[in-house]
Amino acid sequence: MGSTSRAGSVGSLGIVGGGVIGLAVARRAASDGWDVRVHRTEQRGASWVAGGMLAPHSEGWPGEEAQLAIGLESLKLWHSGFLAGLPGDIVTARRSLVVAVDRADVADLRTVADWLSAQGHPVTPTTTARDFEPLLAQGIRHGFIAETELAVDNRALVAALETACVDAGVRWAPPVTDLAEVDADVRVIANGIDAPTLWPGLAVRPVKGEVLRLRWRKGCMPLPQSVIRARVHGRQVYLVPRGDGVVVGATQYEHGRDTTVVVTGVRDLLDDACTVLPALGEYELAECAAGLRPMTPDGLPLVGRLDERTLVATGHGRNGFLLAPWTAERIARELAVFGGAQ
Ligand code: GLY
Repeated sequence: MGSTSRAGSVGSLGIVGGGVIGLAVARRAASDGWDVRVHRTEQRGASWVAGGMLAPHSEGWPGEEAQLAIGLESLKLWHSGFLAGLPGDIVTARRSLVVAVDRADVADLRTVADWLSAQGHPVTPTTTARDFEPLLAQGIRHGFIAETELAVDNRALVAALETACVDAGVRWAPPVTDLAEVDADVRVIANGIDAPTLWPGLAVRPVKGEVLRLRWRKGCMPLPQSVIRARVHGRQVYLVPRGDGVVVGATQYEHGRDTTVVVTGVRDLLDDACTVLPALGEYELAECAAGLRPMTPDGLPLVGRLDERTLVATGHGRNGFLLAPWTAERIARELAVFGGAQ
């Protein structure tokens, strides 16, 4: 048992990982009375690079029914209180517009829309997409609107969660290379792609994604109001509004832990972004970065119990921000069992 839990707490909890998942779990556990320490590194991980879309509909694809179900459950939590008490301007868009450029792209979009309807979660189709977003390129007509999807400023959210954690009594601790270094009654492994270094055998692998940040300049056309996701001649691109510009993402490839931003990745993203929203050509190219998504073989996150005092919360793939509230609730449920047993 850990030796450091504060008097009156349910017990001590050591969370390894200070990204959106670790922080969401920490805030929730602290509010349930746990004495929480978050072991975190100085390095910026996937949460820093992320687009911040909360988009279970527009990320969906037939066969991914389980992902859709937990994504929708988590989106409800975003709408029903996860943001309560978090400081700052966090939400940057309140719907997604999903559009298609050529006929094959339109067919892909219909596949998704039909599947969502069959799942009981219809989206709103349109053949006049420019009525919803006048900045779209001429000729882009077909799309659907996901009315309840959100986007958040990933960096503002992480900063807000850190503040909320501190306010709730969470303490910061140095990174660890071995779970034995975590002096706590219960441990949560929430360090993304590094989870297997603490618990060998966890099936999480890095999937690289390059993301650009474009900044609005005086004289440019205004920012889009919705998240715009597009299929562009078979590739996918997303444009996520921010207070000062647009986040453009994302490439996806398996190159181990390589986070070099490469020319073809940036070129493809810019080509596709400007095909969809030509006005972006006048924006400043402010940042190019790459993150490593923690992906699992079946695309579902690893959230649950590993042994009598260890929990895991990783493997969120493309949906770490979306699934943060759901993960925090799941871990809170597991912790209630531990807490009750102490
Ligand atoms: N959330 C989208 C991505 O990982 O690119």
